[in-house]
Amino acid sequence: MEGMKTFAEEITCKLDGMITLEEVLQVIEKPKYAEQGDVAFPCFLLAKMMKKSPQLIAADLAKQIDHPLFGAVVANGAYVNGFLNKQVVSEHVLNDILKQGANYGHLSHGQGKVITIDFSSPNIAKPFSMGHLRSTVIGNAIANIAEKSGYQTVRINHLGDWGTQFGKLITAYKYWGSEESVKENPIQELLSLYVKFHDEVEQQPHLEAEARRWFKKLEDGDEEARDLWKWFKAESLLEFSKIYDLMNIRFDSLNGEAFYNESMDDTIQLLQEKGLLIESDGAEVVDLQEYDLPPCLIKKSDGATLYATRDLTAAIYRQNHYQFDKALYVVGQEQSLHFKQVFLTLEKMGFEWAKGMVHIPFGFILKEGKKMSTRKGKVVLLERVIEEAIELAKQNIEEKNPQLAQKEEVAKAVGVGAIIFHDLKNERQGNIEFSLEDMLKFEGTTGPYVQYTHARACSIIRKSESNIVHPAGLNDDYSWSVIKSLMEFPIVIEKSLQQYEPSQIAKYVIDLSQEFNKYYSHVKILVDDTEKESRLALVKAVTIVLQEGLRLLGMKAPMEM
Ligand code: ARG
Repeated sequence: MEGMKTFAEEITCKLDGMITLEEVLQVIEKPKYAEQGDVAFPCFLLAKMMKKSPQLIAADLAKQIDHPLFGAVVANGAYVNGFLNKQVVSEHVLNDILKQGANYGHLSHGQGKVITIDFSSPNIAKPFSMGHLRSTVIGNAIANIAEKSGYQTVRINHLGDWGTQFGKLITAYKYWGSEESVKENPIQELLSLYVKFHDEVEQQPHLEAEARRWFKKLEDGDEEARDLWKWFKAESLLEFSKIYDLMNIRFDSLNGEAFYNESMDDTIQLLQEKGLLIESDGAEVVDLQEYDLPPCLIKKSDGATLYATRDLTAAIYRQNHYQFDKALYVVGQEQSLHFKQVFLTLEKMGFEWAKGMVHIPFGFILKEGKKMSTRKGKVVLLERVIEEAIELAKQNIEEKNPQLAQKEEVAKAVGVGAIIFHDLKNERQGNIEFSLEDMLKFEGTTGPYVQYTHARACSIIRKSESNIVHPAGLNDDYSWSVIKSLMEFPIVIEKSLQQYEPSQIAKYVIDLSQEFNKYYSHVKILVDDTEKESRLALVKAVTIVLQEGLRLLGMKAPMEM
């Protein structure tokens, strides 16, 4: 926060080497109540060092600090409380935001460092599930936030495009499928072929062996098997990209599991050389007993490699290729054990960089308290859900603002935004209840509420028709609440990256919107007086920060709604 650092510097300087700036910054805090000032420094640590009562120290320090950013500095028990000078600080903040525009809040601590983010990663020939939606939305936001913090990001969609299931799928297709029906409705059709295979195999056990044969052919590069696999993959990708397009998501790499086929042997050989592979019931595993974990499965008794082997291979590839500082995996919490095993195996292999690997888990999306499942072919088609949200948003516009230009565009921004925001406003580890109706409300803690607040602020600026050149500061309490919120933005960005919690940003834009709406209902912004330019500057600053906050979450901020 503006002033916090200055306050800390002042204190450090007055204490003349007794305590470092870092130590001061560690204990300095924002008081719970506005009456206690904008920043507070507790003197308990000093009391220990100086063997003096903290109250006395606070009283003494308070008298010494005199800085133009602060209107008053007073002792309050064991604390030194600083009250920012509203006029001076708000002038500084407003001019700073107007000057920096969308760059406001940019941080530099990621400069020169690379973060890879493995997210979305749906499975070919299966529907894009609610879990993949969460991964997509959370991963995309974290990537945006990392970029805002100066990191170079590599967005990786680790597609599930390999495995014995493709042998089953090809078998099912050969028996019961047809080109037309797959073309007509690829994912639905491929899924029902897969389900049919599982139904039929109970009566016809020979199917299992056939499926194994097909998968073997696929592995050996048989042309027919290969072509079918490629085709299934292309059709699936076509469907997935409809969802990515609707949501404005892009990737730097679509290297899925199959991409690592060629390097799997190298990984196994490396494990062998390092003496880490042991046999267990005919399979090859890496023992992780020292960590109290079950062994990491590397190779099955029939020679087939596993999910973990692929992730080991992918991690090594990514380190060689991108030299990542951090490698993030945005994957549901049900895979926690898997990632623990993979990361620890890499550490056992002696890779220092494995310390930079992080699994970012999240909870389930529930409907009426139950997991939404794709089993037995009962699927919730995500594309339909998104389209429905857009449709509802459109109805809303027809009711509230039928004259609106670019209705389609706005409906899309609001419908998609509502889905994204509903996910990101909750801490990611919790489960969330899916309800389109709740998501699309214009009041409360929803995406449309924030977007609407932004549009309202934009319309004030449009109506004002005046220039904002060099706004002066503002002194009243309503402005001050908004200014304080604006100052928090950079801190919130930092925290949200530290905790990999986009919810920090979502909560922040809600707070800022609420403060602004309070301001809007109490202050006559467009009255012609000497402070008009400053008030408009405040409104403009709010539009800048809301738009940028929404962008970090992966949402659009329409100028009109
Ligand atoms: N395709 C997997 C699934 O749907 C997720 C992959 C996550 N990424 C990874 N590197 N394992 O469960």
